[in-house]
Amino acid sequence: MRNYILFSLLSVLFFSFSSCKSKEEEKNTEIASIPETTFFKEPYRPQFHFTPTEMWMNDPNGLVYNDGIYHLFYQYYPEDIVWGPMHWGHATSKDLIFWEHKPIALFPDENGYIFSGSAVLDKNNTSGLGTLDNPPLVAIFTYHDINKEKDGSNDFQTQGIAYSLDNGESWTKYQNNPVLGNEGIRDFRDPKVFWNEPTQSWILVLVAGDHAQLYRSDDLISWAYLSEFGKESGAHGGVWECPDLFPLKVSGSEEEKWVLIISINPGAPNGGSGTQYFIGDFDGTTFTSNQQAEKWIDWGTDNYAGITYNNEPNDQRIFIGWMSNWAYARDTPTKEWRSAMTVPRKLSLIKVGNSYELANYPLDDFGTVFKSEFKKDLELAAGESETVAFDNYNQSEIRFKTMNRNFEISYNNSLDEELVLTLDGDQELFLLDRTKSGKTAFKEEFAKSVQKMPIRNLPDGEFEVRILMDWSSIEVFINNGQYVMTSQIFPNESYTNLIFKNSSSSVLTINALEVNRAESIW
Ligand code: FRU
Repeated sequence: MRNYILFSLLSVLFFSFSSCKSKEEEKNTEIASIPETTFFKEPYRPQFHFTPTEMWMNDPNGLVYNDGIYHLFYQYYPEDIVWGPMHWGHATSKDLIFWEHKPIALFPDENGYIFSGSAVLDKNNTSGLGTLDNPPLVAIFTYHDINKEKDGSNDFQTQGIAYSLDNGESWTKYQNNPVLGNEGIRDFRDPKVFWNEPTQSWILVLVAGDHAQLYRSDDLISWAYLSEFGKESGAHGGVWECPDLFPLKVSGSEEEKWVLIISINPGAPNGGSGTQYFIGDFDGTTFTSNQQAEKWIDWGTDNYAGITYNNEPNDQRIFIGWMSNWAYARDTPTKEWRSAMTVPRKLSLIKVGNSYELANYPLDDFGTVFKSEFKKDLELAAGESETVAFDNYNQSEIRFKTMNRNFEISYNNSLDEELVLTLDGDQELFLLDRTKSGKTAFKEEFAKSVQKMPIRNLPDGEFEVRILMDWSSIEVFINNGQYVMTSQIFPNESYTNLIFKNSSSSVLTINALEVNRAESIW
């Protein structure tokens, strides 16, 4: 009680002091001062995924590593739990597991809201915004001018930059923003910039409605148009958003290909928002791809607007996506904050026949979050099922190996809520059914149908299934991330049973089933 009185007294003092501050400063202090330990236990609050302390979040932005720190910026609206005037929220991590919430990095200004974008370390101070001894971090983002939009003009999205000379702690907008104007394209946004060694220049890729455009620069300030890609390629069921472009070696070989990631909304295979990719080549000017098939990084409904880290020190391609979908993002049943990021995933390129596939799988180090609860092997005769009980599947990792291709796994609880995963080898499909998984009625689109993923290229022999569940999400990785489904769920109490069911006519063998308890990162 004494502590409580002392705390209240300190709070009163603190808040009267903070009222002397400017509005921006005030917001910064409030966000930074929230005691996470008491806050982070709300219903559905993920325990090992990144979430903002409070309020609305969407896309990851400005993923960049510098001087021991991984930065995660994100689309943020600090005044409500629905989308609004966009800011860049900010968090940092030394290991991509534990995060520290930071004050808001970028606020809207006279040029508009701060939409999605990227960040680079300008090591050689090409921009002149820092010095060679203290090179700047430069953020490149889209300005969305709401007044211009209301006035009916089409050129309301432009690209601006901001820089930091203290490794992201504070940011200054470039005084002559925007650095890239708009010639009348309505959806002209989400610049991803990277340093291209062969041409010794900065390359910027952004989206322009139904295609991507590439630009180059020597100094991050003056940009020249290079080329476009995509009007005739891939899925076009909605607007293209949040591009990323990077080289990747094909696993087990020296062959290098370029990957173009494009988020699209709507038009994803299971409804609403989704992220497609193209494998091809980039010659410093143009990206080309002869890929015919539509390819999706994740077949679940809830992995959108994902991009990768710049300047990653271990030469890995690390991807983080927003675990939601514009079809119902504003309606999910949380109160204090909205939505989470995926776990950080390592991208790799695999070649199957003549086709390249982009796999994504949790970073190796992320495994330290999971602590073994028990292990067992299962052998089930045709048609048989077995229940594996655990008090808290809602914060868990499941892993096993099998050769079988016809089985069902369902999580359930005492309220008879169930989340059903089915591997159907005959139809070469993996299915995720959340229609009875808990709260679903908040928006019709949420549980309209069973989510389907084709698994045509699953190799013969044994493969791994790995499932991460974190209170309001499930991430399923099949064969080390060759096939992935990420989905939000809102059970009314924790799932306590995992039921394996053999739907084949032969024996089902589940090898080395691991049930692991996930620790909380907060
Ligand atoms: C993607 C997106 C981006 C845009 C941002 C606005 O989810 O629509 O294209 O920059 O969100 O918050």
